[in-house]
Amino acid sequence: MSLKQVFEEHPERRYIMFGGKGGLGKTTFSAATAYWLAQQGKRVLVFSVDPQASLSDIFQKDIFGKGPVKIMDNLWAQEIDADQHIKAYQQEIRKKILDMYGFEEVPEEIEQYIQASSAEPAMEESAIFDLVPLGHALYYLSMAKVYDEWINKITKLREEMREYEEMVSRLKRQKETEEDQILKELQYIRGRINASSRILTDKEKTGFFFVVIPEEMILIDTNKAADLFAKFDVPIMGYVVNRVIPQELLQQNIPSYLKNRIEMQNKYLSQIDGTFGEKVAARVPELERDVAGLDMIRRLSEIMFGQ
Ligand SMILES: Nc1ncnc2c1ncn2[C@@H]1O[C@H](COP(=O)(O)OP(=O)(O)OP(=O)(O)O)[C@@H](O)[C@H]1O
Ligand SMILES: [Mg+2]
Repeated sequence: MSLKQVFEEHPERRYIMFGGKGGLGKTTFSAATAYWLAQQGKRVLVFSVDPQASLSDIFQKDIFGKGPVKIMDNLWAQEIDADQHIKAYQQEIRKKILDMYGFEEVPEEIEQYIQASSAEPAMEESAIFDLVPLGHALYYLSMAKVYDEWINKITKLREEMREYEEMVSRLKRQKETEEDQILKELQYIRGRINASSRILTDKEKTGFFFVVIPEEMILIDTNKAADLFAKFDVPIMGYVVNRVIPQELLQQNIPSYLKNRIEMQNKYLSQIDGTFGEKVAARVPELERDVAGLDMIRRLSEIMFGQ
């Protein structure tokens, strides 16, 4: 099935993600797909939390940390400054702790904890919903399950404590205990985590594409990743093969170096077809230069979606 058909047959898919190893073409395909969908009259937001500001590069526009920026009719791009969001969230937590307990400053141990939470890569993925690189997506999913359990436990403890506190205050005939800020915060975080894992594993609205290239190592890794995705129930919409050297070159008088590379690719291309079969949605040729700027993005989208 072609990429175009896949999209036409699934208009209900609203969250499209490109996963794959570093540098294979996730950002490029996200941009080209977003461009094509926008041209089809859909309102599209393409976004990333990549600190490298790769969407800014490909659209040749400074969009990093600026919210959704309009690229053209129907198309917006957004690059979230995750560091900035984490800092803001930490500041908010500090303020809540100060307000709640009436401290002059955040106690050292708590401050250390707040700092440590941002050192962990998981923090980045839990603060904002994004799945650009493959590893992150899987990491996020596994962390979501861990967090969820953890937060469940704390919430339960907190609820029990609260019941107890209420009982004590009833006995003392005090007025109701103040609204529990901590409990509210925990429930809020849990809600966010659940909502984002729900989107990720929503078989109707979400679709994942794997970007692969015809090379042995990539195929081994992709097979492993596909198994993991299946385990976490993430719906895979298809595979897009990138950087395929055009076969037509074989008709020309080309150096044996290039001929060998084409033959090597052919071997892995047939393995890809053998393994992923119908799910291989497109083969994208190695272009003569990097993909950047709307003209190049348009050209690539025409190749990918066949016009
Ligand atoms: N078919 C292609 N022909 C020529 N250049 C390509 C092709 N596909 C991707 N590129 C180029 O390869 C580079 C890497 O692509 P891209 O940034 O999309 O990869 P990525 O998977 O998003 O990388 P990262 O893991 O770093 O986010 C870019 O410079 C892009 O323009
Ligand atoms: Mg990228």
